[in-house]
Amino acid sequence: MNSSDALVLFGATGDLARKKLIPALYRMSARGDLRVPVVGVARSDWGDAEFREHVRQVVEGSIPDAEPVVLDALIENVSLVAGDYVSDDTFSRLATRLAALGSRSATHYLAIPPEMFPTVIEGLGSSGLTSTARIVVEKPFGRDLPSAQRLNALLHQHFDESSIFRIDHYLGKESVEDLLVFRFANSLLEPIWNNHYIASVQVTMSEAFGIEGRGAFYEEVGTIRDVLQNHLLQVITLLAMEPPLSTDADALRDEKVKVLKAMRPLDCTHIVRGQYEGYLDEAGVAPKSDVETYVACHVEIDSWRWAGVPFYVRTGKALINTVLEAVVEFHRPPRMLFANPDTPPPHANLIRFRLGADDGVTISLQAKQPGSGLSTTPVELSVAFAAALGARQE
Ligand code: BG6
Repeated sequence: MNSSDALVLFGATGDLARKKLIPALYRMSARGDLRVPVVGVARSDWGDAEFREHVRQVVEGSIPDAEPVVLDALIENVSLVAGDYVSDDTFSRLATRLAALGSRSATHYLAIPPEMFPTVIEGLGSSGLTSTARIVVEKPFGRDLPSAQRLNALLHQHFDESSIFRIDHYLGKESVEDLLVFRFANSLLEPIWNNHYIASVQVTMSEAFGIEGRGAFYEEVGTIRDVLQNHLLQVITLLAMEPPLSTDADALRDEKVKVLKAMRPLDCTHIVRGQYEGYLDEAGVAPKSDVETYVACHVEIDSWRWAGVPFYVRTGKALINTVLEAVVEFHRPPRMLFANPDTPPPHANLIRFRLGADDGVTISLQAKQPGSGLSTTPVELSVAFAAALGARQE
C-alpha cells in the first residue's frame, strides 16, 4: 500500500479531536511516525493561528510531559480550513490547500457527528477529492441496518473498499489487543476456554463521568450505539472467537463474524436501560428524553464452545467509578471438599482482564487458610502491565 501524503481531520476543533486525536497526533510526532501534513476542517471562524493555539493547549492539557520541540514541530505541521460542510466552497478550499501542500492522496478522517457523514462524503466526491484518497469513518456507522447499508453504499460510490477504514478505537488499546495474545500465546488457557469450565463472562465498562457537554451527540446515539454495539461487542468477540488462521485483518474479522453470527438476537427481557439523574439537565438534551446512559444485558452465543455460558455486559455513565474489565468466572469444583460446614463454600476461580487505566490480569485462586483445618482462602496472582512491561499505547 502506498502511504497517504496528508491527513485531513474533519471535526478538528471538536470533542473527539480534543480528547483522542490531537493527543494521538502528538504521540505519533514524538515517535517520528507523523510524516505528513495535517489539515483540520471545522465549522468555525478560526484561522491557522487560532487552530494552532488550540492544538498547543490540548496537548499541554492532556500530556503533562509533552516535549516543547515535538509540540512546536506538530504545530508547524497543522493548519485549518474553516467552513460549513454543506458548502461546496469548503471542499474547493480544502482541495486548494491540499494541492498547495503537494498532496495527491490524502486520508480523510471523519471525527464529526454521524448525521454529517453523508454530507461530507458527497462533498469530497463532488470536489474530486476521492479518487486516490482514503477515508476513516467513526461510529456509529448508521442507526440501524438499513441506514448502515445506505452509508456503506454511499462510501462505495466514492471509495474502493480497500480505502475505507471503519474505526473502533478500542481495537487500538494495547490492553484489548492483549486479550488475543493472552488467549492464543498461552497454551494454559485454551483447554479450559469453553462451557465445560467457564460459568460466565462479565464485561463491565463503567464511567464516573457524565456526557460532558456532548448532549446533542448523545441524544442521537445513547449508550447502546455509543459503546455497546461497537467497543463492547469487539471485546466479547476477542474473548469468544476461535483461533484465527493468521493475524491479518481478514482472518481476524472472519473469526469475529462467526461469533456474531452465533449470537442470539438480544431479547428485550434480558436488557436493562437506565438514565442517570441529572442527564435531563444537560445542555442539548430533550426535556423528556428517554435516551439511555446505562445498559446491562445478557448475551448468549450458541456455538459449540459457548452454548449455555451467559455473557453479561454492563456499561454506563455517571457511575461510582471508572472501570473497564472482563471477568471470566469458572465453575466451582464438583465437590466442595474443603468447605467447612460453618463457612460459605470457596469462591469460584476468576480471570480478571483489567483493560482500562491500570491494565493487567488478575487470576483469583484458592489457597489453604493458615491453621489446623483444611479450609480455603482466596489469593490473587496479578500482573500490572505498566510495571512489568513499561508504557503501553492507548
Ligand atoms: C467513546 C464514547 O467512543 O469511548 C465515549 O463515545 C466513551 O462515550 C469513550 O467515554 C470511552 O473510551 P476511552 O478510551 O476514553 O475509555
